[in-house]
Amino acid sequence: MTTPFAPPSHRVLTDCVRSATTAPSLHNSQPWRFRIEPPAVEVYADPDRRLPVTDPDGREQLISVGAAVFTLRLAIRRAGYQVRCELLPDSDEPSLAARVTAGRPAAVDATTEALAAAIPYRHTNRWPFARVAVPAGAIEKLRDAAEREGAVLTVADPAGRDAILGLARAADQRLRERDDYAAEISRWTGRAARHDGVPAWAYGPGDALGVMPVRDGAGTLAVARAPVAFEPHPTVLVLATDGDTAADRLCAGQALQRVLLTATWLGLAATPISQPVEVPEIRALLTRRPAQMVLRIGYGGVAGHTPRRPVNRVLLDEPPG
Ligand SMILES: Cc1cc2nc3c(=O)[nH]c(=O)nc-3n(C[C@H](O)[C@H](O)[C@H](O)COP(=O)(O)O)c2cc1C
Repeated sequence: MTTPFAPPSHRVLTDCVRSATTAPSLHNSQPWRFRIEPPAVEVYADPDRRLPVTDPDGREQLISVGAAVFTLRLAIRRAGYQVRCELLPDSDEPSLAARVTAGRPAAVDATTEALAAAIPYRHTNRWPFARVAVPAGAIEKLRDAAEREGAVLTVADPAGRDAILGLARAADQRLRERDDYAAEISRWTGRAARHDGVPAWAYGPGDALGVMPVRDGAGTLAVARAPVAFEPHPTVLVLATDGDTAADRLCAGQALQRVLLTATWLGLAATPISQPVEVPEIRALLTRRPAQMVLRIGYGGVAGHTPRRPVNRVLLDEPPG
């Protein structure tokens, strides 16, 4: 006989959804919606928040949604419940990315505590990092974080790093040549009093050495900052998956967020560099497995909170029609 137990309340799950909305997303597009039906929360990809020029097949949208799914799982676990996650549970409803269900009450382990504590402090940092090597032990922890979510994180050796950054610069140029790219970036950049998009202050300076392809609003920012020299030997990581299905992309997003929260826990700053995975011919050159994201990590200054939509704007009463 199983002992009855009380599932988390609607209010607890709403708090968990609020945490999930702090996840990173392409240009802070926040392409997700949630439906709470205790003990489960359904996570939907929002087709109106895909960036069709930068992300024509919605791969990065699924990575963003996957990052929110990981954060939701973590928040429910941190609230003291076991958690079960089914990816793409309904073949008739492809926008339903995941159903995350709270189970029995369970003690919270130290890793969950530490990763959950990092959630509010994880920010994208587009500024130069210290010229200090990232210790091998820290890299090992990041690799382990990716592996636990079914992805593979590799650190580039010096020659690989230079090659990847060269490909990223080439990809950045190719993207700028796409029709409507600047207009699309502009729609998600720099305007004040918004609950989404990347505010102008979140963009760092350009790299005076011309090495780092940090995103800069594709020239749409009203004020360009004077370039400064970035660290000349950045630590560059590539996140990859075995396949490239929708489920693989959701896994990549979960792994990305686990890696980023682990980095935050370790005091490391990070910048996703997605231009090289946005140009298919260049993406194919990055790794043998399908590459999902390039990351730069290091020791950086404080980066601020970018805005998020209030939780009531992302909650659905009914499944989307
Ligand atoms: C799929 C994906 C791709 C991203 N690509 C880039 C990128 O190429 N350059 C960059 O500076 N930030 C990139 N980001 C970071 C987002 O811009 C960032 O998560 C968003 O603006 C919210 O800010 P936050 O991470 O500080 O919360 C990416 C994030 C995701 C999830």
